[in-house]
Parts: sequence; C-alpha cells; structure tokens
Amino acid sequence: MSFPPGPSTPAPVQLLRWLRDPFRVMDDCQARYGDAFTMRLPRLPGIVILADPLAVKEVFGLGPDEGHAGKANVVLKPLLGEHSLLLLDGAEHIRQRKMILPAFHGERMHAYGKTMLDAAHDSIDGWPLMRTFPVHRPMQAITLQIILRTVFGVQEGPQFTELADALRRALDTTANPLLMLPMMQRDLGPLSPWGRFLRHSLRGSAILRAETRRGREKGTAGRTDVLAMMLDARDDKGRPLSEDEVHDELVTLLVAGHETTATALAWTLRWLLPDRALCERLKEEIASANGDPLRIAKLELLDATVKEALRLQPVIPMVGRVLQEPMRIGGHDLPEGTLVSAAIYLVHRRPSLYPEPERFQPERFIDLKPAAWEWLPFGGGIRKCVGAAFAMYEMKMALAAMLPRVEMRLAVDRVRNVRRAITITPEGGLPVMVTAKRSRALGARAA
Ligand code: HEM
Repeated sequence: MSFPPGPSTPAPVQLLRWLRDPFRVMDDCQARYGDAFTMRLPRLPGIVILADPLAVKEVFGLGPDEGHAGKANVVLKPLLGEHSLLLLDGAEHIRQRKMILPAFHGERMHAYGKTMLDAAHDSIDGWPLMRTFPVHRPMQAITLQIILRTVFGVQEGPQFTELADALRRALDTTANPLLMLPMMQRDLGPLSPWGRFLRHSLRGSAILRAETRRGREKGTAGRTDVLAMMLDARDDKGRPLSEDEVHDELVTLLVAGHETTATALAWTLRWLLPDRALCERLKEEIASANGDPLRIAKLELLDATVKEALRLQPVIPMVGRVLQEPMRIGGHDLPEGTLVSAAIYLVHRRPSLYPEPERFQPERFIDLKPAAWEWLPFGGGIRKCVGAAFAMYEMKMALAAMLPRVEMRLAVDRVRNVRRAITITPEGGLPVMVTAKRSRALGARAA
C-alpha cells in the first residue's frame, strides 16, 4: 500500500484548518506534496486528495460497488435523512437516482424557465436603492422560490411561506461549520443551536409529508412538477418511492438545490460586477434574446460567464468516494476504506488547462470543451449532480433578469471566502450597493 505523502499534524488540527479554509489547505498541500496528498481526519484511515485530472477520471469511473459517495457524505445525514440520494450507495442509489433523474432532464428545463425568470424579477422588485446589503440573501430567496415553485408546482399558500421560513432558519443554524461535527449535534433545548435546527426541521418535515400525502390522495393528473413526477415514478419492480424516501429526497432537492446555486450566483456577481465592459457586453447579448428563456439559455457569453464563475470559485471544493476494495488509483495502491477525493478546486486552477487560472475570463470557455474530469463543479460519474442542468439554467435566468434592470457595484474591496455548512461562500454575504434600478417592463425594453 502506498498512501501519497501529506501533513503530519494531528488529525483534529487538520480538520479545523480544513473547516476554516479548504482552498488554502489544498493550495499549501499541493505546493508541498504535489498532485496527490493524504490528509488525516479523525476516525478515517486517510483522505487521499487527487488534483491530477487523469486520476480524477479514475475516481469518476468507479462503479457503484467500488466507490461509495454516500459513505463519504455521511456528515450530511442529520441534515438530509438516511434515504437522501446523497447518502445512498450501490443498487439502492442507482434505483432512486433513476426515479428522480427524469424530472431534471435537460428538456424539462424549458418548462421551468419562466418560473425562474419570474422568481428573479419578484426578488429584484424589493431590492433597496443606495444602501449596502449582502447580495447572497436575495440570491438565496430567488433560488429557494425557484426550487419550491418547480418542486411543488405552485407559487403561493401559507404552507409554502411556512416551509420557506423553516428551511431558511434550519439552514442558517447549520451555517456554522462546527455543527457538522457529530459531537456538536446535541439537542440541549430550543435555544441550543442543534435544538433550534431540529425544531425548524420538524416544522418543515410536517409540511413535506402533508404535501406528499395530499398528492397521493388527490392523484397527480395534470401536474408536471417534480413532486408529481416523484410520486408517479416506479422502479424496475414496479414499486413507488416510500413516504420516507419521498420526504428525504424532497429535503435533499430543497437544500442541495437552492443553497449551492445561490452561492454560485453570489460568486458570479463577485467576479462580474467589477468588470463593467463585460457587464455591458452581457446586457447586449441578453437583449438579443428578447426575454425568451429558451434563447437566454443558449447565449454564448452568458453560458461562458456561468461556466467560468463555477470554475474559478467552485461552491463545493471536492467530492469523495470511499473505496470498497483495495485499488490502484492515480498510481497509488490504496486499501479498502480509503476516502479518495477529486479536488475540484485544484483541477480548476491548473495553468495547463486554464492559463492564468486566477483571472476571471469567461471568453476562455467560448471555444473550450473541457473533459468531464477537467471542469467538474458538479462532480462526476454515476454521482454527478442531478441538478447540474437545472442550476446552469437557473443561473442564466437570474443573471438575465438582473443585469438589464440593476446597476450594482461591490461595496467591499476585498472578498474572502468563508464556509457555510458544506458550501464556500463570499464573506459577509457579498455586500453590494444598487445605484439604479429599472422596472421589469423598462428592463425588458433596455434588454
Ligand atoms: C451551482 C449549483 C450546484 C452545484 C455547484 C452542485 C454541486 C454538486 C456536487 C459537487 C455534487 C456531488 C457530485 C459527486 O459526488 O460527484 C452534487 C450532487 C447532487 N446535487 Fe448538486 N449542485 C448544484 C445544484 C443542484 C440543484 C439545483 C439540485 C436539485 C434541484 C441538486 C441536487 C443534487 C443531488 C440530488 C445530488 C446527489 C447526486 C447523487 O449522489 O447521485 N444540485 N451537486
């Protein structure tokens, strides 16, 4: 067996450094040890982090019985539930993934396009003028509205306001990365962080279960939303998803589906806003689409901008698989139980793939078709994000609504990254100031 080299500091110290600033840890380790290094975290035999795209290709090629992502994501279990797609492995993972994927197929996106544009416009209507505010908040509000509207197919109702509130509060509680540690997950009453999280989660769960039962009782005829498709889905043996399975998948889609995209949008603005010339070119391009979601989705520079933002600042810095048998990966013979990780962030910063990798240069994506192991913000292989097409579509719609309507600038000179549960977000929620705002109708005319 040949673990790659790595830091020898005690495991708890490595964990704390990792939780604080994973990008810095990865940069430091790569500079010292090269494209493969081993980190030690408590209760694990070792995490082998791989930055060479060809080694990443091997990780993404692992079959359902060779590399388990569910085991690598176990820290998410209290948040998402044991039936969450992110937590499942092997045959059960494949079964549920097949049942959920059709709702997120590329073709389905066009049905969601108008909902996405509307949710963005509704939010922009309420943005303050000439006052600094953290733009991550409205990005969360937009993506939460989008996922709620597409998952349930409705826009309003007290139960959705209540659900949105419960979700937001539960997620805000878990924003503290220390709460990801099992020893911090203790219910010490409604004022303790974990106690608060559990109470908000229970409120949200009750609504999700009620919606599921209502869907089963009333039938889904005429509905095209994600929940209806999940209720109608059958596996190879003709079985539907159980109520617990539907519940955990709904939580997964609502959580994984909105926090990540909100953060990706905030990072996009972080790079985009200082580049006035690029903003103007994007506005012109967006104008040519005449507000049509189908045409917006195909705009070349907008597509390149979203891809470049996801490259430069991946929301999730790496994805892992626990080896189910001894295997040779990236030239290293590794024992069963090793957690191997594809270092998304480091692959995205390779000068050989992306010259001047620290610069935000959307044009680089205009003629570039990177391989699945060279541009991997959504992970890869049989675990690739089911919402990848949805998220890209959503980011484009949100930007197409924002740019023609709002003149906005960053309200800080320096933007550091901070961890919020599993995602890496801009510090302070990215403070911005809106200096001019048009109505939706005027924005459409300007666009
Ligand atoms: C910019 C936004 C997003 C980013 C950066 C992102 C990133 C990721 C990553 C890195 C993974 C793990 C992949 C792996 O292990 O190889 C993942 C998995 C997943 N994502 Fe996303 N995601 C985003 C948006 C969404 C959306 C919008 C949804 C749903 C509506 C979603 C649902 C999921 C689910 C269900 C999985 C588990 C897939 C599986 O294990 O089979 N994500 N995502």
